[in-house]
Amino acid sequence: MKVQVATAIPPPHAERVAELLAQCFGVAGWAEDRRHEHDDRFCSQGDIWRRVLALNEADAVVGFATMYRRRIDWNGRSLLLGGLGDVCTDLDWRHRGIATAVAAAARMEMERVRCDVAYLCAAVNDPGIVWLYGQSGFIPLRRPHTYRGKSGRLYEDTDAMIAPICNPTVFEDVLNSSEPLHIGTGNW
Ligand SMILES: CC(C)(COP(=O)(O)OP(=O)(O)OC[C@H]1O[C@@H](n2cnc3c(N)ncnc32)[C@H](O)[C@@H]1OP(=O)(O)O)[C@@H](O)C(=O)NCCC(=O)NCCS
Repeated sequence: MKVQVATAIPPPHAERVAELLAQCFGVAGWAEDRRHEHDDRFCSQGDIWRRVLALNEADAVVGFATMYRRRIDWNGRSLLLGGLGDVCTDLDWRHRGIATAVAAAARMEMERVRCDVAYLCAAVNDPGIVWLYGQSGFIPLRRPHTYRGKSGRLYEDTDAMIAPICNPTVFEDVLNSSEPLHIGTGNW
């Protein structure tokens, strides 16, 4: 298995990535209003920085993630927020360390582009999921974070994990503050 960090999904892999995303995060069976709210919340396409692909020996996509990069205000200062989303592994390839390797590659790219801290949302009540992202330095924020939807609506969730990338001081500050972390417009 090899991991590739690309500026865009390479055209030969586009169909397989779309299938994988539909398999793992498909909203096809959802009611219209639920889908609409999901689109409103996850409106961060403009902040996509890289796509991370895990390829097997036959050069087929077996794992995937999207890496984001966004400048946000934190306590009156500007910081560069890295992000990880769409993390998924083909059903037949799970529990072989693929998501771990994909997250690690995304983290290296965040270091390369000098993100201060990184954010993702995940099932923070699941110790296995916390462990998975913990290998790349993420820990649960354990307090609310907020973001605006495409509509301007303010959303508040409690499933954030954050990681120190290039700025451990700001990371500690974000972690220990009592203010909600506001990540700007769009979740990922
Ligand atoms: C979650 C997911 C990406 C994990 O992919 P993976 O390649 O199997 O992950 P890894 O092999 O790197 O897992 C490493 C460890 O993380 C933990 N882990 C992995 N998947 C887990 C899951 N679904 N639930 C709980 N813990 C999990 C386990 O401790 C695992 O070690 P193990 O294989 O010895 O049990 C995959 O199950 C998936 O695509 N799920 C559907 C989409 C999804 O929910 N994505 C996460 C969004 S935050």
